[in-house]
Amino acid sequence: MKLWGGRFTKEENQLVHNFNESLSFDHRFYRQDIEGSIAHVTMLARQGIVTLEDKDAIIAGLRGILADVESGKLEFTAEHEDIHSFVEANLIQRIGEAGKRLHTGRSRNDQVALDMKLYCRDEIDELDKLVKGLLGELLKIMKENLDTYMPGFTHLQKAQPITLAHHMGAYFEMFSRDRGRLKDIRKRMNTCPLGSGALAGTTYPLDRDCTTGLLGFDTPTLNSMDSVADRDYVIELLSALSTIAMHLSRFSEEIILWNSNEYQFVELDDSYSTGSSIMPQKKNPDIAELVRGKTGRVYGALVAILTTMKGLPLAYNKDMQEDKELTFDAIDTVKGCLALFTGMLSTITFKKDVMETSAKKGFTNATDAADYLVGHGVPFRDAHGIVGQLVLLCLDKGIGLDELSLEEFRQASPAFEKDIYDAISMETCVKRRITLGAPGQEAMRQVILAYEKLLD
Ligand code: ARG
Repeated sequence: MKLWGGRFTKEENQLVHNFNESLSFDHRFYRQDIEGSIAHVTMLARQGIVTLEDKDAIIAGLRGILADVESGKLEFTAEHEDIHSFVEANLIQRIGEAGKRLHTGRSRNDQVALDMKLYCRDEIDELDKLVKGLLGELLKIMKENLDTYMPGFTHLQKAQPITLAHHMGAYFEMFSRDRGRLKDIRKRMNTCPLGSGALAGTTYPLDRDCTTGLLGFDTPTLNSMDSVADRDYVIELLSALSTIAMHLSRFSEEIILWNSNEYQFVELDDSYSTGSSIMPQKKNPDIAELVRGKTGRVYGALVAILTTMKGLPLAYNKDMQEDKELTFDAIDTVKGCLALFTGMLSTITFKKDVMETSAKKGFTNATDAADYLVGHGVPFRDAHGIVGQLVLLCLDKGIGLDELSLEEFRQASPAFEKDIYDAISMETCVKRRITLGAPGQEAMRQVILAYEKLLD
């Protein structure tokens, strides 16, 4: 059944229907569509545009549809074009004449703009909960690992010793910014497009403030053409999702490296690992790899919608129907990744001894040896050169800096004294890094307090 059959003399071609329809995917926002319709008709009645009786019948009918969809009694059947047509046709079937008055002063253009916003807003809240859950897990690991030493890397080469708490703190920062982005988007998008009509508003005395309030928006939108043509919030959301996916992907890559035979910094729980069909010894990090891999489709959604919107003249164009599957898929994907990743992280075993041994190797204390010389009056550039030569000597002998004799140290520079060994011990290297944001335990404790407050 078509909402717009009046001016047509021919039946719609079946292929055209199949190509044009969106019910097969926009049925997802049946709840938001019904919520929007209830607000709309409530306002219509308050303004005297429909009678109170009709309003009550419409709302009862809409609630019936909602209940029947949720119980599975009412199915989304293919003859309807989209969720808006589906709900309206069902309403008319249920309550008759009154149902035909629901669409007064409304177009599917402002209706779909509203539904999409309501849907994205709900999903932003769900996403925020998931990111917050991940942050909680990270904070837990941080609190337990202030003294778990590991190498910090640059260029994937061992650089300086850090702690596991510090490394996890870096991800805490990233995912906190992601929450901030979600919050910003939610705030900016929270304007109500309902009442914009097809593109030029309506001639009915609609009370847009009323529907704005009923639907939990901050203000009504101020330009009816923009209201039906705007998908900026979808683009912003997909951009934020892409950034979350990118962060998860970087984290996954590290987990995969750390779980490799070469690193052995972590062991994934059996319940979050998979095996090989041929190699009996294998225990693979498929979940982390999939999370890393799914980043591609989330970026794909962002690029797709940017491309679809590019060059669209005002106001509504059917091209915009393409926003839905992309957005739904990106949201589902990122929600899935967040949940799985958090689960994987909460069951992971950190092999602290392996991490610590690794942190001690690879001259991660070379900077501290140079800093020691600076503390004894040697200019930094000279100190850098002296320690560089000592590293060469160590490489030759196959030992670490802390295994050099005092004599060897002093041959390189008389500024070395026997407290050099304490100065370049891993514990000292970390402990002395006390600037805010550094891995030293004292600095980390302050940061953890701030994170605790943030999650409260
Ligand atoms: N299914 C459409 C969409 O997703 C709803 C709006 C249809 N409006 C129209 N004028 N055909 O964009």
